[in-house]
Amino acid sequence: MVHSGSHVYDPARPSGSLHVRAAQVLEDNWTGTSTVPSRSLYPHQWSWDSAFIAIGLRHLSPLRAQTELETLLDAQWGDGRIPHIVFNPSVPLDAYFPSPDFWRSSTAGRAAGAPRTVQTSGIVQPPVHALAAWLVHRSDPGLSRARGFLTRVYPRLAAWHRYLLHRRDLGGGGLASVVHPWEQGMDNSPTWDAPLSRITPAPARSFRRADLAHGAPEDRPTDLDYGRYVQLATDYRDGGYADGTDEGAARRAPVDGGGGRRAGRFAVEDPAFNALLIASEHALARIARELGATGTARHARAERLTVALIDRLWDPAEGMFFCRDVRGGDTLVPERSISGLIPLLLPTLPRDIAAALVRTLRGPHFGLGGVTRLVPSYDLLGEAFDPHRYWRGPAWFNTGWLLERGLRAHGEQREADALRGTLLEIADTSDFAEYVDPYTGEACGALGFGWTAALTLDLLQRRPGHGVSPVGADAFDKSDKGGDRG
Ligand code: SER
Repeated sequence: MVHSGSHVYDPARPSGSLHVRAAQVLEDNWTGTSTVPSRSLYPHQWSWDSAFIAIGLRHLSPLRAQTELETLLDAQWGDGRIPHIVFNPSVPLDAYFPSPDFWRSSTAGRAAGAPRTVQTSGIVQPPVHALAAWLVHRSDPGLSRARGFLTRVYPRLAAWHRYLLHRRDLGGGGLASVVHPWEQGMDNSPTWDAPLSRITPAPARSFRRADLAHGAPEDRPTDLDYGRYVQLATDYRDGGYADGTDEGAARRAPVDGGGGRRAGRFAVEDPAFNALLIASEHALARIARELGATGTARHARAERLTVALIDRLWDPAEGMFFCRDVRGGDTLVPERSISGLIPLLLPTLPRDIAAALVRTLRGPHFGLGGVTRLVPSYDLLGEAFDPHRYWRGPAWFNTGWLLERGLRAHGEQREADALRGTLLEIADTSDFAEYVDPYTGEACGALGFGWTAALTLDLLQRRPGHGVSPVGADAFDKSDKGGDRG
């Protein structure tokens, strides 16, 4: 039974049914080597989806969870980037846009080391992978060691982080920049409105969206947004997917009519993207230790990144982090997005900053424990707030999962338990929706969504009331130990 008033998910409920149904979603979305986020809307393998999916899949089959990550890493580029989509060649080209013939990875991405045999996109997504690999390993260390899982994935994950830290430090302050809203993953967040307004949209007739055939138009980004996404991706492709810090970039990037370089007009330092990089860097340190190294240098790098994150993106007056528009006067974008709260995930965040983030979460802009059921993706009081349109207000389950973990890491057990309860309840009643109205829990986007089901399985394993003390990098390990049964 569900007590919606107190937002506590009753463990006595026939929880088998939720577990079984979540497992069924992952079964239905499994292709044999990886999991699609949604059979209809997203019929290929997505990078950060796969990482979150592996975190849930480990409770059903640690072998499948390892395979999920290995399949993704098999499509890694020579320069270290992990592409945001790995295309399934048996899916018709018109099932999803932009399709492989738009990205042309194996030709346009040749200089950047795109694989020859598999088609991918040329942009990236948030680096959740090392964190996922560590959690997957922990679910069955015996199997992991027997298969040499960490030995094989460690160098690839290290190359991925190297790419982000070296090729993507476009602001020069030590943080990674995203060069497309699809890279940060919160595609049409109002945060991007200002940086995107500098991009002339590709003409609507030059491409055909496939998403509107599967999702309600009022839940999806607008045509104007899509025109800009397409133009940015086209420019990046035509520049050989070279990054601003890449030696060959200047030579390869074409010059636009205005005399400027087409590549690189959009570069943003995002709090969630960088917080996930830091969390994953701590996880890589744990992996290095498991493989016999000390991991000390990696923990130290994660701490330096945390200092840079605070230095460049923290606003003490607002009590949250903001995006830095590197190509827009190097200023903070004054939009409150859930991305600015995700650094709560970091157990080593200074106590006063963590406390301020919790206050902001509970305050009128995000409404945790008050007016909303789940934390919205964007400021409830913001002019652009829309409870149904993709990342302009709806609540998502991956951000809920990250905040639940963050609240727990900073001693907010009651709030974490309540959030866990509501996430489970709404995953259940919404049929594992892609995202939901943050006030009502009404389902939006696709149903039977991969990471919603996977993170449901992970939350079902969490022991309510269990605490994690923010004792440095090891807290990632402790939180895993304490949070997982078995
Ligand atoms: N999220 C994007 C889409 O909606 C692409 O990654 O298709």
